[in-house]
Amino acid sequence: MCGIAGYIGKNKASKFLLEALKRLEYRGYDSAGIVVLNKNIPKCLKSVGKINALEKKMKNENLDGFLGISHTRWATHGSPSEDNAHPHSDCRGNIWLVHNGIIENYKTLKKNLIEEGHSFKSETDTEVIAHLIESHFKGSLEKAVFSALKQIKGAYALAVISKDDPDKIVVAKKSSPLVMGIGKDEYFLASDPSAIVGYTDKIIYFDDDEISIITKNGHQIISAIDNNEINKSHCQIDFDASKIEKCGHSHFYLKEIFECPEAVKNSIRGRIIPEDGLVKLGGLETLDQDKLREINRIILIACGTANFAGLVGEYIMEEYAGIPVEVEIGSEFRYRKPIIDSRTAVITISQSGETADTLASLSEAKRKGALTLGIVNTVGSTIARETEAGVYNHVGPEIAVASTKAFISQIIILALLTVYLGRMRGMSLTMGKRITEEIQKMPSLIEKVLENDRQIKDLAKKYSRYRNFLFLGRKYNYPIAEEGALKLKEVTYVHAEGCASGEMKHGPIAMINENFPSVFIAPSDSVYEKNWSNMEEVKARNGKIIAIVTEGNEEIKNIADDVIYIPKTLEMLTPILSVIPLYLFSAYMGMELNCDIDKPRNLAKSVTVE
Ligand code: F6R
Repeated sequence: MCGIAGYIGKNKASKFLLEALKRLEYRGYDSAGIVVLNKNIPKCLKSVGKINALEKKMKNENLDGFLGISHTRWATHGSPSEDNAHPHSDCRGNIWLVHNGIIENYKTLKKNLIEEGHSFKSETDTEVIAHLIESHFKGSLEKAVFSALKQIKGAYALAVISKDDPDKIVVAKKSSPLVMGIGKDEYFLASDPSAIVGYTDKIIYFDDDEISIITKNGHQIISAIDNNEINKSHCQIDFDASKIEKCGHSHFYLKEIFECPEAVKNSIRGRIIPEDGLVKLGGLETLDQDKLREINRIILIACGTANFAGLVGEYIMEEYAGIPVEVEIGSEFRYRKPIIDSRTAVITISQSGETADTLASLSEAKRKGALTLGIVNTVGSTIARETEAGVYNHVGPEIAVASTKAFISQIIILALLTVYLGRMRGMSLTMGKRITEEIQKMPSLIEKVLENDRQIKDLAKKYSRYRNFLFLGRKYNYPIAEEGALKLKEVTYVHAEGCASGEMKHGPIAMINENFPSVFIAPSDSVYEKNWSNMEEVKARNGKIIAIVTEGNEEIKNIADDVIYIPKTLEMLTPILSVIPLYLFSAYMGMELNCDIDKPRNLAKSVTVE
């Protein structure tokens, strides 16, 4: 959570610092702030709410300096307020910093600092860092930062400036992401490269326990562990800036739903050998293939939407690759005593590659000797770097907080992985061909579903007065019921529950009446008849039904109040099509209810706290 940015160089810092916050706003948006050193005088502005509130304030102020830092916040310690917004400073307002992460021992540190005479202005954990640096400061900012960090426990991406040691930014990283863009006589700092794209394509990804001292003429990276200098070369990023524009859509959320066909094309490009029914995953080819052949158990670990993709993956992999699969929630996994050995593959699934719970589970799995793999969208992210091997989604940046195109791609990658592992085992050439041929049809089949856009918009209008929804599905579409409900909650704040259709009779059916509609995901698959019986149960209790079914199903009109059709495909791939109407439904309901569907309240895109 939280986005940080920094600039030092030949241009006015505030332009980049504001633009970067706008691009990082998905990481948190309850308050924001900026500080610029103008002729060595720190000028700080903060505001509550989204970045445009800060931008308005900045218009009337002189922020002319060539060095500064900025921050967009997702509150953890202390409510969203100007006092709690970053940047935070020491007692005298000489040292300023922005922070992403959590300082776990801040209470003890704060108590000691107060006893030493420091006065605090905020309720945040972050402010202790500024006072610690102050207490160690003897003229060199980097030395004071080194000493302060030795006392800190927790996670941080930090950028610090000081009026008493100006012309430099000192940064440090542990467990929270931080990148640096290298321009000509200028440096850009940010939580992720999307904030830097367009300014430079030369990026350095900082690793844990690295501290860097940056001036406009050069930078130095030092290990916080042994104080040795680290030589690190930059990466060239290939990133299309138009990908972070709305390109004619009213919202990123809608744009990203409509990008799903493209997302699938990008995820499968160069990865299918149709004539051999084979899949080629370059990221896994670096591994000893016998190691992959020997896997006898897979644990998929992810949070939220990515976890639901994992559930679909579990069904696909067990049925077609014949490997036992379990799906774990990132925040639970490491608190249990998971049974893992070297033949267990732990696959973490994450769009951002920075989700703290998933990352912590990954470390635990590594410690226990599992083979660790990743399905990650953000290139160079921590999970991508920490896993032994993996597969990138390649769907481009996902800006809307609620994940859509990444989810579709996660299922696609899990299906590709099923063929990859399955063909090493018992999967026949015919089956390999059948699945890969069908995966290749997915972009055009999704296009077909998206043609229902107008109908779904009308449905959203019709149902916008309802405050409760039940989403139901079986087998491959049970996770889609969960995902449909999650999306509706997130972007409309309307209460929704996802439920396996067969579980309805064990409790949720008690809620059904004429004011509690049910959305059934019931394509013509091996469990269609069972879903039909559950629809009967809902109808018998006067419940309204919206049904997502396969084209050509006419009988459904006898039971459902509203019907959305999806094209026919392999049962295992139906989730990729059935989730699209649910995404559109949530988007249009949200717009109908005047919700900010790109940045729902209380959420952040990268959940970097546990
Ligand atoms: C919901 C949503 C979240 C994320 C979850 C994991 O729409 O986007 O539930 O799926 O926070 O995020 P990543 O995939 O970045 O690990």
